[in-house]
Amino acid sequence: MSRRRSFLDLHRSAPVVLPSLLQCDFGNLDEEVKRLTSAGVRALHLDVMDGHFVPNLTYGMPIVSGLRARTDMPLDVHLMIEHPEQFVEAFVAAGADAITVHVEAAEDVAGVLAEIRRHEVAAGLALNPGTSLDQVMPHLDACDLVLVMSVDAGFGGQSFNPVALEKLRKLRDCKSDSTLLEVDGGVNASTIASCVQAGADLLVVGSAIFRHEDYQQPLDQLHSLLA
Ligand code: DX5
Ligand code: ZN
Repeated sequence: MSRRRSFLDLHRSAPVVLPSLLQCDFGNLDEEVKRLTSAGVRALHLDVMDGHFVPNLTYGMPIVSGLRARTDMPLDVHLMIEHPEQFVEAFVAAGADAITVHVEAAEDVAGVLAEIRRHEVAAGLALNPGTSLDQVMPHLDACDLVLVMSVDAGFGGQSFNPVALEKLRKLRDCKSDSTLLEVDGGVNASTIASCVQAGADLLVVGSAIFRHEDYQQPLDQLHSLLA
């Protein structure tokens, strides 16, 4: 099965919580992956930032390949970078199963989405809270996932912006059944249920997991709120 198909298989388990590896211990990925796996995590969300598209800098392909070597879980790579088309091949080679680019960052949105699918990984399109859905709509058929940001891309630990709920509802009503809807930013025990009700299949969670010493307890709580 292609990586794209196996990523789209997450549909069957939706809604799914994806930990965002922004605040984990990068010096001990073995242990982090083990702890998340034993706490019931099914897929990982990786935040790549370039210091240009967003005013923050994180990591690139080596962390993705380091994780690929440690887990079979789907790796959902969120590129917050300029010129994302220049890096598609490298992130595929590093082991990404899904690659999401920002509609605000890509000069040729249709081209980069097609390039991602050509590599048989899932193609995602993200939009920030201030960006209109009108920018995404023309590309909906070319997307395997739409990532609705509920904070401005760039930093973990920000507050949830409810404008995301409105966008999720609209997308739910016009997307095809096979397209996944993902929400990212400020998702926690107080906001997760409204995201699911609005149609989110994939829920990205950073600080609500990683500010705890023990990941099991916050993940159990989040999972209990998904129904
Ligand atoms: C923000 C990132 C998010 C972030 C989520 O630009 O895309 O994935 O790490 O973190 P929390 O859950 O803390 O908002
Ligand atoms: Zn993200």
